[in-house]
Amino acid sequence: MSTEETLLNLDFDKPNTIISPPDDGVVSLSSSSEEICLVPEVGFEGNVDSPGVNRESQPLLGGRGDFEVSYNHFPDDPQFSELVWQAEVAIDNGIFPERIYQGSSGSYFVKNPGNKIIGVFKPKDEEPYGRLNPKWTKWMHKLCCPCCFGRSCLIPNQGYLSEAGASLVDSKIGLKIVPKTRVVKLVSETFNYLRIDRERSRLKRAITEQFPNLRFNRMGLPPKAGSFQLFVEGYKDADYWLRRFEQDPPPPHVMKKFQLQFERLVVLDYIIRNTDRGNDNWLIKYDAPAQQPPHADIDLRDPSEWRGAEVRIAAIDNGLAFPFKHPDSWRAYPYHWAWLPHAKLPFSQDTKELVLPLLSDMNFVQELCDELHILFKQDKGFDKGLFERQMSVMRGQVLNLTQALKDNKSPVQLVQMPAVIVERSKSGSTSSRFFDSFQQRFQHKSPFFSWW
Ligand SMILES: Nc1ncnc2c1ncn2[C@@H]1O[C@H](COP(=O)(O)OP(=O)(O)O)[C@@H](O)[C@H]1O
Ligand SMILES: [Mg+2]
Repeated sequence: MSTEETLLNLDFDKPNTIISPPDDGVVSLSSSSEEICLVPEVGFEGNVDSPGVNRESQPLLGGRGDFEVSYNHFPDDPQFSELVWQAEVAIDNGIFPERIYQGSSGSYFVKNPGNKIIGVFKPKDEEPYGRLNPKWTKWMHKLCCPCCFGRSCLIPNQGYLSEAGASLVDSKIGLKIVPKTRVVKLVSETFNYLRIDRERSRLKRAITEQFPNLRFNRMGLPPKAGSFQLFVEGYKDADYWLRRFEQDPPPPHVMKKFQLQFERLVVLDYIIRNTDRGNDNWLIKYDAPAQQPPHADIDLRDPSEWRGAEVRIAAIDNGLAFPFKHPDSWRAYPYHWAWLPHAKLPFSQDTKELVLPLLSDMNFVQELCDELHILFKQDKGFDKGLFERQMSVMRGQVLNLTQALKDNKSPVQLVQMPAVIVERSKSGSTSSRFFDSFQQRFQHKSPFFSWW
């Protein structure tokens, strides 16, 4: 609460209590007290509204006026800003995000004002081990078996950053398989909230009904930070199409396109060391060519006859990546795609040409780390030491990947390479990047080789 605020005590057992703030007063409910009480402190501030702004017309539930407007605004990406804006307008108009029931945590389909799904929102505090995860089994698991909750190689409760980080890596390399994902703040009554938050929200409504002249600078439920991913249309779980492809293989030129997309998925997962890439966590879109009439006089082996047959991969659910150490065995959290026949083919020339020039450039890799640092440090629990370890794992993955590409290896051979970490070690007392050096070592073994 700001120092200029004056405390007002409201007693709702006596509804006739007369309170007469100035007409332009703004009232805020304190949310600092943790005890559940129906009559929290009510602060009073004068003159914080901009002249001419009619805040009374704003909705009670989390209107854009009651938290940092700039939070969901991305100057470098007006399209994405517009998308999030659409979601906020929809929520203001009562079109609320809907929980995805097949998901393992609190994930929501977010809609636009036309009721069309436009995004997938995963609030930080509803993650598998977040404090407000709606799935009871997970909660019980955590309660009964705290020593084994989560994945020991991952920083708990930062899945939303991992989602956004995967998107960052994807667009930096130009893989184009992760639907754009960024961190935003949303509020909706369909999210899972603590009882106290709901009670406060009800109280605020009651206050506004009784004292229409009072306006809150922090109305309704608190906004939640989480990852917001673009919803991609027309895709199905990879499992579905992989089975169909087995029974009824698409024409070779489609399979070639699929192979290139698949290799990009491998590149992404390997770099971010995704520990959760089951075949339900990537999607495939395939516009199968229309059924040909019987005895059609066309050569089905001719790719031009299959125009329109397009295949695309979308890598979703990237919340369990960026470990700060390698899992003890790659078999503990395998890349499930490694068992697919597509993983047995050596990486293509196309993939090498896309990825190798970037990943063999140390400056590029450092830039990637710097951008991830900007993203990850916004979390309240950010720990510089752990972040450095995450980047050491990632650099090791990049090193193995570049080597595998140069050696014409296949994805299966890539995942069998020994896990490496590449740590930054500062030489001397200077903090200049110029003097950074890197040391490569195999996990659990002492350094044997210096790089740089
Ligand atoms: N960006 C997206 N576009 C389209 N569908 C999606 C997207 N993200 C998730 N889905 C759908 O929602 C389901 C659950 O999403 P997922 O990210 O796997 O959540 P969880 O972390 O709860 O497993 C997916 O299996 C998929 O069907
Ligand atoms: Mg999933």
